[in-house]
Amino acid sequence: MPLHSVFLDNTMTQPFTVPVSLAERSYEIVIQTGLLEKLGRKLQEQGVRGKVGLVTDRHVARHYLKRSLETVKRYGIEPIPIVLTPGERSKTLKTVEQILNVLARHRFERSSMLVALGGGVVGDMTGFAASIYQRGIPYIQVPTTLVAQVDSSVGGKTGVDHRLGKNLIGSFYQPRAVWIDPLTLRTLPTRELIAGLAEVIKYGIIADESFFAYLQRHMSALRKHAPAIVSTVVKRSCEIKAEVVAADERESDRRRILNYGHTIGHALEALGGYKSFVHGEAVGVGLVQEAELACFQGICSRPVVENIRHIVQEAGLSDRMPPWTSQRIWKAMLHDKKVSEGRVIGVWPERIGQVQIGPIEKHVFEQWCSVSRGSSPRAHA
Ligand SMILES: NC(=O)c1ccc[n+]([C@@H]2O[C@H](COP(=O)([O-])OP(=O)(O)OC[C@H]3O[C@@H](n4cnc5c(N)ncnc54)[C@H](O)[C@@H]3O)[C@@H](O)[C@H]2O)c1
Ligand SMILES: [Zn+2]
Repeated sequence: MPLHSVFLDNTMTQPFTVPVSLAERSYEIVIQTGLLEKLGRKLQEQGVRGKVGLVTDRHVARHYLKRSLETVKRYGIEPIPIVLTPGERSKTLKTVEQILNVLARHRFERSSMLVALGGGVVGDMTGFAASIYQRGIPYIQVPTTLVAQVDSSVGGKTGVDHRLGKNLIGSFYQPRAVWIDPLTLRTLPTRELIAGLAEVIKYGIIADESFFAYLQRHMSALRKHAPAIVSTVVKRSCEIKAEVVAADERESDRRRILNYGHTIGHALEALGGYKSFVHGEAVGVGLVQEAELACFQGICSRPVVENIRHIVQEAGLSDRMPPWTSQRIWKAMLHDKKVSEGRVIGVWPERIGQVQIGPIEKHVFEQWCSVSRGSSPRAHA
């Protein structure tokens, strides 16, 4: 869709706001179709004067940069665009250094603001750069992918990848606000939209049975970007994430429930060399296969697994475990950081809307692999 239609063809809807309660670091998530058009005004309301660093990537820039710069300038604010190379491969310290170089060159000060206009890659790097430039400057998330709108922009985890591990370097650093314009999803490649649906489905499974039922009813409208449905889904997802994060900002027990689907998901991503799957696709498989494992352990019933499988398929995601050996998958699961004393800590659905956290032993995992594949785990290359 051409840029001007994204901005002009839809009347602005009433905003939804979701509070993120983190004591003195509390902030609001605002969800409103057409919000991007008001970027300048919103920055002015935040007290931004002078310069603002607008960090984005080339794909997002192509659709939204020119117009965003215009709305910002209209309010007497000087935007400094920082346009990065798109994709996970550029989520490095080197790229963060590029951001810092621009800030230093333009003499950004302690009170200067950054805006992250883009997906999770832009958001994670902008947040990290904001957390270390002059020991911390404010930033605002304006997420433009479904993953970023329902997940990465909320919670204050920032950082970059290292060649020895994904997200190995980073900080907890909360944004001043999260401003979401669901209309930006219209330009998102279908594969990326579908990947984001895995995280959305996850929220239903871990916390809200009626939201899960809503997703079952509206999946096809959601995939067609029906604005009211998308806004509702983004809002409820943000509420669930915000509630979990507020209860447990620095990732101990409660926050672990957000990892549902990610124990197997992360392992598959790693085994695929971060090329075979985009993150949400691996999580989609994880949602189903971890439910299968829960069922195998007697934690949930078969209909729960089939419900999850069905919605994952309806979303356009795969539910199939690739044919790696159980040993390789286990090793990759152990390597992931959510591990305690050599056991893997998993998140297991009891029913839709309720999960439990618990360890799984290697022999149980291998037994399940061999049963679910109908032969010895060693037989699979
Ligand atoms: N901080 C957290 O809590 C957290 C949570 C989940 C994921 N993440 C991180 O987020 C990253 C993944 O984020 P992502 O899925 O948003 O990927 P991404 O940022 O790479 O975006 C996906 C692709 O879509 C393009 N794009 C973005 N918005 C667009 C739009 N509106 N129209 C057209 N193209 C658009 C991007 O240029 C990119 O090519 C990973 O690095 C992951 O580690 C972080
Ligand atoms: Zn995820």
